[in-house]
Amino acid sequence: MTSQTATALGKLGHPDGELNLTKAAAKHGVIQMIPTLASCAFDELVDAAQPGQVQFLQLYVNKDRAITKKFVQHAEKRGIKGLFITVDAPQLGRREKDMRQKFEAEDPAEVTGNNQESKVDRSQGAARAISSFIDPGLDWKDIPWFQSITKMPLILKGVQCWEDALQAYDLGLAGVVLSNHGGRQLDFSRSGIEVLVEVVRELRARRGLSFPNEKFQLFVDGGVRRANDVLKAVALGATAVGVGRPFLYAFSSYGFEGVDHALQILHDEFEMNMRLLGARTLKEVVPEMVDASSLQSHIVAVPGDRLYDSNYESMQHARLREVKSKM
Ligand SMILES: Cc1cc2nc3c(=O)[nH]c(=O)nc-3n(C[C@H](O)[C@H](O)[C@H](O)COP(=O)(O)O)c2cc1C
Repeated sequence: MTSQTATALGKLGHPDGELNLTKAAAKHGVIQMIPTLASCAFDELVDAAQPGQVQFLQLYVNKDRAITKKFVQHAEKRGIKGLFITVDAPQLGRREKDMRQKFEAEDPAEVTGNNQESKVDRSQGAARAISSFIDPGLDWKDIPWFQSITKMPLILKGVQCWEDALQAYDLGLAGVVLSNHGGRQLDFSRSGIEVLVEVVRELRARRGLSFPNEKFQLFVDGGVRRANDVLKAVALGATAVGVGRPFLYAFSSYGFEGVDHALQILHDEFEMNMRLLGARTLKEVVPEMVDASSLQSHIVAVPGDRLYDSNYESMQHARLREVKSKM
C-alpha cells in the first residue's frame, strides 16, 4: 500500500543516504523506489536488499539513449521489478531554497552514485547541478523503444491528467504515478489525489476499467503523511501510494532508526484506522468512505495545512545591513 518514492541525493541528509531506506523497507515489507540520482551506487542498494525484497527503479532518461539502455538492462538483470519513468521533469523547477544553498561537492559522483553527469554548474543548487543530462525531448513516441529494451513493467511517474493516463493505458503501459513531483516543478499543478478521482471516472467511462486494477495500476504521491491519507487514496482506486519527504526527514535526523520508527507509526495508524472504518480487508475500503466532493474547490474549501506550516520555513527577504555612521 505504501512505498518509498524516489528522492535523490540522500547523502545530503545522512552519510548512509538511501541505504537507510533499503534497510527499513526490508524490515517493514515496503517497496523502495531507487532514484536514478541516488547518492549510493545503484548496485550498493540492490546488494543491500534482503532476498525477495522488492525494489523499483525511477528513471531519468538520458539524452544519450545508449546510457539509458545500459542502465535499464542492468537494472532488469539485477531483479528490479518495475521501471518508473519520470515524465514531469524535462527541466527542473526553480527551487529557490536549493539555489541559495549552492552545491559544494567537488565531484558529483560524491553525491550521485550513478555519475550520469560530467560538467557541473554549482551556482544553481544541487538538483540542477546534476540533472542537465535529462532529455527534455522525451515523448510518447519513445514508449515502443522502452518496450523493446526491457520486459520490466513500465510506469510513467508524474502524470497530471486523465488524458495522459488513458494514453498510457492504450499504449500497453503497466500504470501511472499521479503526482506533481511534490509541488517542486510547475507551481499550481494539481495534487495526485485530485487527479486520481478524474482518472478513475474517465477510464471507467471510456475503457470500462474498475480500480484498483492489476493490469493498469494507479499510484499516487505527494503529501501522504498519515495512514488515513493512504486509505483515502486506496478507497478512491489507487493501488498504492508513494511517500517521499517524511522518510527523508526521518533518516536525515535519525538514520535507519528514524525510518523504522516512521514506518511503525504508519503501520499502527493503518491498523487502527481500518478498525475504526470497520474494514476487515482492503477490498472493504470503498469510495463511499471518502467525501471527495470538495476536492476541486481550490479557493473556498482548502483547509489550512498546519503540518506544512510548521515544517517549512517561508522564504525570508534579504535584510539590509545596519550601517552605523561614525559622527
Ligand atoms: C528531495 C527530493 C528529491 C526528489 N528526487 C526525485 C527524483 O530524483 N526523481 C523523481 O522522479 N522524483 C523525485 N522527487 C519527487 C518525489 O518522488 C515525490 O514525487 C514527491 O516528493 C512527493 O512526495 P512527498 O510529498 O511524500 O515528498 C523528489 C522529491 C524530493 C522532496
